[in-house]
Amino acid sequence: MNTLLVVNSSPRSNSVSRRLTRHISEDWLAKKPDGRIVERDLASGSLPFLTEAWIVATTTPADKRTSEQRKTLTLSDALIEELQMADLIVLGVPMHNFAVPASLKAWIDLVTRAGKTFSYGETGPKGLLPSTKNVLVVVTRGGVYGAGSPADFQIPYLRHMLNFIGLKDITIIEADKQSLGGDAAQQSVDRAIEKIAALSVENCPANLAVSA
Ligand SMILES: Cc1cc2nc3c(=O)[nH]c(=O)nc-3n(C[C@H](O)[C@H](O)[C@H](O)COP(=O)(O)O)c2cc1C
Repeated sequence: MNTLLVVNSSPRSNSVSRRLTRHISEDWLAKKPDGRIVERDLASGSLPFLTEAWIVATTTPADKRTSEQRKTLTLSDALIEELQMADLIVLGVPMHNFAVPASLKAWIDLVTRAGKTFSYGETGPKGLLPSTKNVLVVVTRGGVYGAGSPADFQIPYLRHMLNFIGLKDITIIEADKQSLGGDAAQQSVDRAIEKIAALSVENCPANLAVSA
């Protein structure tokens, strides 16, 4: 069955990134009425930060883990399985203090796991999630950050981490100028919606209708 994983991280109910990820989900479901949408909403901030017990459990060989260690890794296992099962992954990411929300950083820490989503070999790090999996990243920002901006710790970080765990097919949908309000903010959202619509066209690399 086709599966879409949506990870939202905005704490705001009137969130632009949530509006755009919802738009993508509706578009996807219209094309795949039998598809399954899994939503991981990080806004409650309930994901734990990494602890020493977690680190020790991940570095203990799987067949040597105690039941307590297996329990410690249950949530990380479940989040990684959601990534493995998804045909399309959609991340909704507001910029917070030039970077990603802390809740999303906590999610990234839990899914970046040696032996599960990356490994180190003779040629260096290797991502273990399939590079062909499509990822759409919806980023929203108050201001404007050109490519290579030294103040943008959002898009470069997300690209790096997704690549690190093997995900190479990444499309960024950006809605900036949200702090300006008015026409400037709305036009940026409209452009994002146009870009999403363009992704629905057959043969587009990040085609929303992928894995038909
Ligand atoms: C706590 C917080 C920190 C923010 N930090 C930045 C920032 O560093 N740079 C920026 O351009 N916008 C910043 N913004 C503006 C948001 O990125 C912008 O409002 C965006 O639309 C939020 O996405 P959302 O509507 O999905 O919540 C910040 C907003 C909040 C609430």
